[in-house]
Amino acid sequence: MKRILKWAGLAVSLIALIVGGFALFIQLRSMPKFDVSVPDITVQSTPERIARGRHLAMSLCAECHRHPTTRTLSGTQMLDLPEQFGVAFSKNITNHPTKGIGSWKDGEIIWLLRTGIHPKTGLYVPPWMPKFVHMSDEDLQSIVAWLRSDDPIVAATDQDNTASTPSWFAKFLVTVAFKPFDYPKTAIAQPDTTNLVSYGKYLATGVYDCYACHSADIATMNQLEPEKSPGFMGGGTQMLDVNRNPMYATNITFDKTHGIGSWTEGQFIVALRDGFRPNGAPIRYPMPRGVHMSELELRAMYAYLQTVPVSAKANVPSYAYTPASGSTAGEKAYHAYGCVNCHGATGVGYGDLRLADKKYPDDTTLISVIRNVRTYYPESTMPVWDGHVKEDDYASLAAHVRRLGK
Ligand code: HEC
Ligand code: HEC
Ligand code: HEC
Repeated sequence: MKRILKWAGLAVSLIALIVGGFALFIQLRSMPKFDVSVPDITVQSTPERIARGRHLAMSLCAECHRHPTTRTLSGTQMLDLPEQFGVAFSKNITNHPTKGIGSWKDGEIIWLLRTGIHPKTGLYVPPWMPKFVHMSDEDLQSIVAWLRSDDPIVAATDQDNTASTPSWFAKFLVTVAFKPFDYPKTAIAQPDTTNLVSYGKYLATGVYDCYACHSADIATMNQLEPEKSPGFMGGGTQMLDVNRNPMYATNITFDKTHGIGSWTEGQFIVALRDGFRPNGAPIRYPMPRGVHMSELELRAMYAYLQTVPVSAKANVPSYAYTPASGSTAGEKAYHAYGCVNCHGATGVGYGDLRLADKKYPDDTTLISVIRNVRTYYPESTMPVWDGHVKEDDYASLAAHVRRLGK
């Protein structure tokens, strides 16, 4: 009996030692390290490639890499990263030779985007920077051609990188769960854009990665075979808005009750491009805005989603903002229209709304900015509110924006 106890005691302390040692091992090292074998690719820049690359990257890279003040891809904080993963900053990927990626070889950028292994250090780039396993070689090269172009958005910007500080949990996950991808052994061809369904599948699972958010859970998504992800397109993944309140991606299969089975193609296009549901309700952050997507791309994704097996899963309600009693009409409207999901409760979020008070001193201008921000920033992902916000609400919204800046 005693002997068994002794052994049991020893086993427990051994386990503690192993677990403790492993924890320390993860804590001490940075990200796991891998071999680097950069492909020998020099991208030929053509006007067509630059245009295509811009079109893709404005949807795929700008949301995370664009700094609200420099307005270039000079890097910014990932405000909606759950706290248990630590703190992350995207990097300066402008053409600055030392602070950006101006001196990287084309093949180094492609290597990173395909595998998730940093070409300079061999370290695994954590899951909050996406990897593009299924994107065609042509589309990937187009993105690189654009990153190298003289577009002001990628102009060399003298902004230092801030290091990300992944938590123990994040390092643990990338040690045991997330792995880099093999560099493709064969060429990945451009899909046939005349076949709407197959082009839509390519876009929804290989480019814009709708399934990554819209399936059951980010942790169980299958990046190599996206359609095998549990709960594919049936929604349920929890994410956070900029105030770190829980938001759930919805069911976008063609189920008539819980999905988008009753939406017309036109309604789907409005939802993605303009950000409003058929009933007029705004589709809130972090659902990305498809302002840069083409009509053909949107029609193709609609055609493809119609072929996805229907899921009858009910949507999980996202965090509902209930402004404190006694809050002003402006504050109530700011919550009701979902301004708060992007701009944050204090105005600090996706951009810094506190600056608007000084920037637009008279109310006529401020209201016209809120009404249609694209007359000021033609490519903004902020919805055009004209026709969606009640006329009576503009003055109180403007007053609330001013209060945030004071
Ligand atoms: C969801 C947010 C997100 C998106 C979308 C995104 N990135 Fe990143 N990216 C990051 C973060 C965060 C890092 C820093 C990772 C780390 O913590 O080390 C990063 C790092 C990088 C780096 C490494 C730079 C360096 O100096 O180490 C490159 C290059 C890069 N991203 C390019 C791109 C390109 C090109 C796109 C679009 C095709 C893109 N990223 C899309 C978040 C994102
Ligand atoms: C970063 C995660 C993310 C990605 C990527 C994403 N979505 Fe969403 N999507 C969401 C969230 C969260 C919502 C819910 C927003 C809300 O409740 O207001 C949503 C809502 C929607 C809706 C509204 C559905 C409804 O029930 O009202 C549609 C349609 C939609 N997404 C389609 C797409 C398509 C198509 C793609 C790919 C082009 C995509 N989404 C990519 C997170 C994402
Ligand atoms: C989907 C996210 C999103 C939502 C929702 C949103 N905005 Fe914005 N807003 C932005 C972005 C992004 C910008 C910055 C313009 C740019 O860089 O494209 C912006 C800019 C602004 C500006 C101008 C700020 C400046 O410094 O020039 C004002 C004012 C503003 N928003 C008010 C509002 C109000 C009021 C609401 C709600 C009715 C709202 N926004 C909803 C994303 C959003």
